[in-house]
Parts: sequence; structure tokens; C-alpha cells
Amino acid sequence: MTPSAKRGVLGGDAVPPRSLDIVGLNVDSPLSLPKDRLLQLLQGCLESQTIEELRTRLLLVKELQPGRGKRAGNTPEVVTVKFGLWHDQLRQIRESKSLERGRHYLKRMIKSFDEVKTPSFSDINLCRWQEYDDLWTDSLWNIERRDRSGQHSGHYWGNFVPQIPHQLMRRFTKAGDWVLDPFLGSGTTLIEARRLGRNALGVELQESVAQETWARVQREDNPHKVQSVVRQGDSSSVDFRSLLDQHQIPSVQLAVLHPPYHDIIRFSDQPECLSNQGDVNAFVEGFTRVVAGVSKVLQKKRHLAVVIGDKYAGSEWVPLGFLTMQRILELDFSLKSIVVKNFEETLGKRSQRELWRYRALAGGFYVFKHEYVFLFQKK
Ligand SMILES: C[S@@+](CC[C@H](N)C(=O)[O-])C[C@H]1O[C@@H](n2cnc3c(N)ncnc32)[C@H](O)[C@@H]1O
Repeated sequence: MTPSAKRGVLGGDAVPPRSLDIVGLNVDSPLSLPKDRLLQLLQGCLESQTIEELRTRLLLVKELQPGRGKRAGNTPEVVTVKFGLWHDQLRQIRESKSLERGRHYLKRMIKSFDEVKTPSFSDINLCRWQEYDDLWTDSLWNIERRDRSGQHSGHYWGNFVPQIPHQLMRRFTKAGDWVLDPFLGSGTTLIEARRLGRNALGVELQESVAQETWARVQREDNPHKVQSVVRQGDSSSVDFRSLLDQHQIPSVQLAVLHPPYHDIIRFSDQPECLSNQGDVNAFVEGFTRVVAGVSKVLQKKRHLAVVIGDKYAGSEWVPLGFLTMQRILELDFSLKSIVVKNFEETLGKRSQRELWRYRALAGGFYVFKHEYVFLFQKK
């Protein structure tokens, strides 16, 4: 068929595109499109001889009947794309001033549907990077509200918000990877790992906390049939290698460490508890032992994240974050990022806000409103 004949068929018989606004979707709604047909139509557009012909052929692409998808991604039969992005991309092609520009955008679109390119440490398809706008790439995290869905709750004093392990696992693990959390607490990491299809192993010093957490993690759905392992133990002395061997785990691909911020919250009276160390040096030593142990089972080139805040003692700011960071850098790690995260005000603190303001003004300091997520990569 000649280009002009094709033009006649495609242009003449084309039904006017129906407005997708009426389907009741929002910009983030995922649409599923039949892959073979879509690629065939896009290739057809590429063969256009003029920009007008390209625009006409594009009408057929617009008319493809989308279904509702789950999350953006590609399978052999279907490509799933966010409604808003899909329309922006079609508009960009349609509004191209020249055939050359239009073909450039078309080629980029075809590539994004046909190819998968991922970093070695995640499932993020870089060919479709624009669709991951729910992943954070800035070093300032302002988390307004805790995710309380499913088994997540804020009941455990000193637990972190689920959005932290969620972001870390999406960026730094692949489906089926193993995640290690040596300060398990209420199990936020393990609950999130189940949702994301990551296996996870958590170690918690307090027997009662470990038991309660195990029960909670079991109550969380396990749609991807991953393994969740909870062990009671002292992470500063446990042999992680033999612990992993007991569960036939060759290595872990991400470690998420959320230790006590020294004695800010006393988690237990147990002498091994990092919140129970006599001074800051002992705390840093104990924490460094945990990192050294974890490092032995962390796969090379994979990541270790430390979530930690500073403390104030004897009229001085004690930079627990930077003190521990320095020690980790002396091990086999390189620093990839220092993220500053806003600090949730606990109910107790909120009622004391005015008192803290007074103390800050009188004592010449600033009230803590942030903590850190240090991100390291094992060399
Ligand atoms: C800040 S909390 C972690 C909270 C956790 N991220 C969550 O979301 O529930 C620190 C936890 O580490 C535990 N812990 C303290 N020292 C430990 C040690 N030496 N080995 C293992 N766990 C320890 C504490 O009992 C506490 O549950």
C-alpha cells in the first residue's frame, strides 16, 4: 500500500476521537493497551511522509480502546501507561512543528513500550522513567502523614513511617530480593516488604516485641508469596552469616537500619540494647558492630540505609547521624546520599511545643525538626 493510499484509509475512515475525559479517569489512572496493535500503529505513524499524515495516523492510536491497568509496566501482551502521561505524549507528537520532531517523539515512545532497561539494583524501567513520579529523588523528604493502611500502625513508640522502607525498597531492590532489618521493632519494613514482593528478615532484641511483630507481619496479606522471617537476637553480636544459612538465604540485597537514637527512647533495660549504652561512644561502637555484621551478608554494590536522628545533651547538639556515618565510611561503603526528613511531632511533644520554643530561645539552640536517611553502597 502506498503512503497516500494508507493516508486515505486511515484519515478518511477514522472515527473522531472520543474524549477520554468522559471515562472518569484521573491523570494517574493506569491504562492497559494491546501491545502488538499499539506498536503496529506507532510504526505506521513513523512511515508518514508529512507531519499532516502523521497527525492523521495518530488518530487511530488515540482510538485504541484502553482497559484499566494495575501499575505502569510492560508485559508481552499489554503495555500499561498512566492516563495523563499517555495523553501528554500523544499531544506532544501531534503538536510537533516538523515531521522530524514528530518522528523523534514517536521513536522515543516506541522504545519506551518495547524496551526494558533497569539499573542493576532495581526494577525501575528507565525507558519509562517519567511514570515513576511516586518515587522520590530529592534529598528533602517532607512526609505529611503516616501510612496507616493494613497492619501498619503508629502504636510502637519510635517506629518509622512506612513510606521510608517503601521508597528504599522500590529504589534499591528487585522483586524477590532479600531485605535485612536488624532493628525490627514493630516490623514496618517486613510489612512493607510483603506488599512489594520482597523477602525480608528482621532481628529484634526484645523477645516480646519480636513475638508480637511476628504475629502482626503474618496478618498482613502476602500476595507475592514472599518469605518473612523474624528472629529474636542482639544484632551487635549475632552471626548474620549463620542466621542466613539457617534459612538458605545466600545474601541480602538491601539493609535498612533504624537504631535507637541512643537514649532518646529507652526501648528496654537489656544491656545489649543500643538505647542502653552508657555514653555516645559506646552507642557508636555498638552500632558500628551491627553494620560490620550486616556488611558480611550484604551483596556487593547493593545498598545500606540508616535512618537516624541527633540528640541534645549537656547543652550540646550531639550529631549521632554524622558520628555513625563517619564510622560506616571507614568500613567498605561509599556514601550515596544524605536525605533530610521532617520529624513527626509526637503527641507529647506537640503539647509541649511552647515550652520547647521557650527553651530554645533561652538556651540558644534549635528544636529538632528533622532526622536523616543516610544511603550507602557496599563497594
Ligand atoms: C527505632 S526502633 C526500630 C523501629 C522500627 N523501624 C519500626 O518501624 O518499628 C529500634 C529497635 O531496635 C531494638 N534494638 C535495640 N538494640 C538492639 C540490638 N542490639 N539488637 C537488636 N535490636 C535492638 C529496640 O528494641 C527497638 O525495637
